[in-house]
Parts: sequence; structure tokens; C-alpha cells
Amino acid sequence: MRPKVAFITGILGQDGPYLAKLLLEKGYRVYGLIRRYSKPNFENLEYLGIAKDVDYIEGDLTDFSSLLRIIKSLKPDEVYNLAAQSHVGTSFSQPVYTTEVNAMGVLYLLEAIRLFSPTSRFYQASTSELFGNNINKDGYQNEDTPFYPRSPYAVSKLYGYWITRNYREAYKLFAVNGILFNHESPIRGINFVTRKITYHVAMIKLGLANEIRLGDLSPRRDWGFAGDYVEAMWLMLQQDEPDDYVIATGESHSVEDFVREAFEYVGIKDWKKYVKFDPRFKRPAEVYDLRGDASKARRKLGWKPKVSFKELVAMMVDADIERLKKKHNIK
Ligand code: NAP
Ligand code: GDD
Repeated sequence: MRPKVAFITGILGQDGPYLAKLLLEKGYRVYGLIRRYSKPNFENLEYLGIAKDVDYIEGDLTDFSSLLRIIKSLKPDEVYNLAAQSHVGTSFSQPVYTTEVNAMGVLYLLEAIRLFSPTSRFYQASTSELFGNNINKDGYQNEDTPFYPRSPYAVSKLYGYWITRNYREAYKLFAVNGILFNHESPIRGINFVTRKITYHVAMIKLGLANEIRLGDLSPRRDWGFAGDYVEAMWLMLQQDEPDDYVIATGESHSVEDFVREAFEYVGIKDWKKYVKFDPRFKRPAEVYDLRGDASKARRKLGWKPKVSFKELVAMMVDADIERLKKKHNIK
């Protein structure tokens, strides 16, 4: 029997490698979209030990012709659209580019599927950023919470969310939105706050740095482990009917909680002296409190997170310490 074929955009990012690993373990043939580089960076796939197991196809989410060609030739069973300009802060300084990738890119991909492979199942990486500062009376966000995006990133993702729903309703495509809350891992990009913290805590612990510069420490996030969240993506595409799901842990912590937890994990109690406020990392508009209610996913997909907040922080700090020791030849 022909193995199932999956096409993943964003294969070199954080979620792409975890999803690819999961699908390879399930026997899929996995194709990943990579942009044109003089030197592509396979570090995250190598970290998970699967860089040689993925097939790579060159293209770009902003280049409609490349997506048409790829979808027409692959006719994949499943398409996971994880590619994005995914940094909220950067979206304020690069709003046009962010919109081209995160909004138009989704439309290009859906059009390619509608025209050349309408039976492909489509996953769109939607986000808790869509909610902005809206919270239900019970203190959580769920699938019924109204959207109120607070950044060019979130506004562009709002288009992606709705165009996915529209193609599902108008053309009967099997197209779903995963509304994922923040999820992190040892291969999280270094300029997202969790990894920035664990990297700097590891540097400070090893005597390689003496400060970490951060913006607002008060925003709260619902942080889970990326390895758990990619399983939910796959489950959404295995259902009888396409639908949208919130994926979250249901626990929220402030950025300051994360900083404290990371420092205390390595035994540094007087951590406040290392933390410097830097206005460059403060955003023109902020989202203050994200905490997801994933009960629909639990009920319908049988999904629940496995890794706790404390375990996540420990896993990320340990990984950074190990990498730095290797790099600097520290015993
Ligand atoms: P990430 O680490 O930033 O990875 C994004 C990937 O998108 C990168 O591999 C990047 O490629 C690729 N990309 C960017 N522009 C592209 C373009 N024009 N054409 C093709 N590829 C392009 O993001 P992530 O954390 O894995 O997140 C995956 C998706 O989930 C994103 O859509 C993000 O917005 C969404 N999301 C993430 C979270 C989270 O907490 N992680 C939560 C909710 C939603 P290069 O490697 O070539 O730069
Ligand atoms: N990046 C960053 N750097 N954030 C900082 C810093 C800093 O130095 N200092 C404070 N923060 C605060 C941000 O203002 C924000 O409130 C919080 O830390 C988390 O920032 P990020 O880690 O950059 O993540 P995000 O919540 O803005 O966005 C991530 O999660 C979304 C899901 O809710 C990204 O992965 C998005 O792509 C994703 O959609």
C-alpha cells in the first residue's frame, strides 16, 4: 500500500520538525517546503534526528506558482500549513511582509488545493493571538470567544482563519483551524521569550553572560510543549468532519513566573539582579492574559497535554546548558 503523503510548510521552524517526526513514526512520506537559501538551516530537524528522512521541495508561501506546481505534482493526503512570519513583535516592524506570508500565503495554498487536489486535508496554524484581550467570564478563551487581534501578526492570522473556514464551507474542502496557545521546546526560536530566557539563564549559570534584557514581564501566557501540540494537529485531520479546535494546557503564568522558574531551577535565587528592562522589547499593543479551555479537543479528539509547565522549563534549560557546554567545551 502507498504510504500516506504529507506536505508541511514551515518544516525548518519549531513545529515542523516535531510534526514531521510524528508523521514519519506513523509511516507517512513527509515533504517539507523550504525557501531558496544559499545555506538552509536544518539544525532543528537534525536535533530531532530526522533531517535525512524528510523530502525537501523548494518554494515559498508568497509564490503562488511554486505552490500550484507542488500541490499539482504531490497531491498530498494531508497539508499542514505551519509557515509564517510568526514573531508578534517583528510584525509591528514588518507588517506588509507579515501579511503577505500569513494571509495571502494561506489563500494561495487553499486555491492550489481547490484547483488541483481537492481531496487533500488541510490544517491551518491559527493562534490564541486572535483573541487579543478578550476573555470569557470564567477566565478562559475557547472556540466561542470573540476575536480582537492586537498586532499585524494577529490581524494577518485572522484572515488565515476565516479563509480556511470559508473554503471549508464554500467548496467543502476538509480544512481545519487549530487555535493553538503558546507552545515551546528546546528548538523554539531564540527570540521568543521562553527560549530567550532559558538560553540566557544557561549562559549566566555557566558564567558566559551576566544579564538578560527583557520587555514587559507582566503578560500571562498558557505555555505547553510543542511535541504534545503537533499530535493535536494530526488528530484534527483524522476526524470524520472538519472542525476548529482550541489547544491549550488551561494554566497560565506570567513572563516573570517563567524567568523565576528558570533561574530557580538552576539554583539561582537572587535572579532579579540579572534581569534588565529594555524598552525595545515592549510592544506597541500587548495581549495580557491567555489561558485556553481545550475541553472540546479533549472530548472530541481525546487530546490532552502531557508535559507540565515545570517540566517544560526544566527541559528547555537542560537542553540549553547541554548545548552551551558542548559549544564552549565546558565539563
Ligand atoms: P517558527 O519556528 O517561526 O517557524 C515558521 C516557519 O515558517 C519557518 O521555518 C520559516 O522558514 C517558515 N516561513 C516563513 N516565511 C515563509 C515563506 N514566505 N515561505 C515558506 N516558509 C516560510 O514557527 P512555529 O513556532 O514553528 O509555529 C508554526 C506555526 O504555528 C506558525 O504559523 C505560527 O504562527 C503558528 N503558531 C505558533 C504558536 C507557537 O506558540 N509556537 C502558537 C500558535 C500558532 P525559515 O526557516 O526559512 O525562516
Ligand atoms: N519575544 C519577546 N522578547 N517577548 C517578550 C520579551 C522579549 O524580550 N519581554 C517580554 N516579552 C513578552 C511579550 O511582550 C509577550 O507578552 C510575551 O513575552 C510572549 O512573547 P513571545 O514569546 O514573543 O510570544 P507571543 O505570545 O507574542 O507569540 C507566540 O505565541 C503565539 C500564540 O499565542 C508566537 O509563537 C506566535 O506565533 C503565536 O501565535
